[in-house]
Amino acid sequence: ATILVLHGPNLNLLGTREPGVYGATTLADINADLEARAKACGHRLLHLQSNAEHLLIERIHAARGEGVDFIVINPAAFTHTSVALRDALLAVSIPFIEVHLSNVHKREPFRQHSYFSDVAVGVICGLGASGYRLALEAAIEQIQRP
Ligand code: DQA
Repeated sequence: ATILVLHGPNLNLLGTREPGVYGATTLADINADLEARAKACGHRLLHLQSNAEHLLIERIHAARGEGVDFIVINPAAFTHTSVALRDALLAVSIPFIEVHLSNVHKREPFRQHSYFSDVAVGVICGLGASGYRLALEAAIEQIQRP
């Protein structure tokens, strides 16, 4: 199966960006780890980070034609703002898991609303980079569900 991992704005700075909040692991490390784990289970992993909302939307549109079975997405700040990204995921009807490195529920009130959570298969937050690994495991389980 094919799993697409999407990273929203500012996540290209992981490792140096507020390490106390987001950890010291870089995005390259996260992607390499996910790619290796997916490959070991016989799956294909694609990934994209973008600071631009329209590029993430267009990547989601393209995913339908590419036969992407599942999406793991950290929409980053777009979590709290983007009806357009939510609509794109609904438009392609590819199931997805929402991931956040930080526990958004113990941060500022504006981070506690997500445009994604009510339409996600599940949500993982507060577990740092491990959250992506757990989301990938869950995605693979979902894909293999009879
Ligand atoms: C984030 C949480 C968001 O509130 C924030 O805007 C981010 C990262 C996280 O992974 O914890 O950029 O999605």
